[in-house]
Amino acid sequence: MSILEKFSLAGKSAFVTGGAQGIGKSIATAIAEAGADVALVDVNFDKAKLTAEEIAEKTGRKIFAVKADVTVPEQVDKMMETIVGEFGKLDIAFCNAGIAEHVPAEEMDYNKDWLRVINVNLNGIYLTDIAAGKQMLKQGYGSIINTASMSGHVVNIPQPQCSYNAAKGGVIMLTKSLAVEWAMKNVRVNCISPGYMGTDLCLEDPVLQPLINQWKELTPTHRLGDPSELQAIAVYLASDASSFTTGSDIIIDGAYSCV
Ligand code: NAI
Repeated sequence: MSILEKFSLAGKSAFVTGGAQGIGKSIATAIAEAGADVALVDVNFDKAKLTAEEIAEKTGRKIFAVKADVTVPEQVDKMMETIVGEFGKLDIAFCNAGIAEHVPAEEMDYNKDWLRVINVNLNGIYLTDIAAGKQMLKQGYGSIINTASMSGHVVNIPQPQCSYNAAKGGVIMLTKSLAVEWAMKNVRVNCISPGYMGTDLCLEDPVLQPLINQWKELTPTHRLGDPSELQAIAVYLASDASSFTTGSDIIIDGAYSCV
């Protein structure tokens, strides 16, 4: 098999959580362009449906939206039932849905600013990883990719975001733990750690907007990343080209975390 054939996702099926917009939408598009059918999982069902139509039209693949909150175990189970019912199997899980809060640690509201962020960004990844993992272990194959962050490695400044950083650090260790547990079962688990990306999470948050020029200065490449710049690594991790890659965390941050 040639190297480019190894990157092909033809005949594979995937889900992407947080697939309605931003990084999830970009990765879902890439996975579909590489040949896979994709379910877009999101709490924002209306937007996910529009995105599904857009990607289907662009790629000719089977793309559909599934409404689920990744923090609710029953909804995650139902989501898996729907996806496996539709595709008959699951080759790729891109567990990506996330939120952020920027509040000084000592002023945080325990429920809204701490628990809610940990719940979506860490527990939501756990629940979707386990749901995908159970199906993949039964099949005897699969690739899971989690979205962590450079914030799992470094403390970003100047915005305070301790719950986000703690959750993302947790995602990296969860990824490694599952990779080791499932290493002999042909289920691979990796994560990507993006730097600042130009998505709604950053650009639409009024607290963050004034900081964008500062972030650019702090990044050696002096710009934000575009979600399309994460597509190649996601296709690599999803494909047979990465058959010996498991338990890896791949930082894509324009060298932010190097300095
Ligand atoms: P975004 O805000 O543009 O999109 C997030 C999507 O997740 C939305 O469609 C939203 O409806 C969905 N979502 C939120 N909570 C959910 C839940 N409980 N259940 C199901 N869906 C839910 O965000 P973006 O920028 O695309 O971020 C995606 C991931 O990438 C997040 O995990 C984020 O922490 C991470 N990340 C983002 C960076 C950035 O600079 N934008 C940098 C590093 C990591």
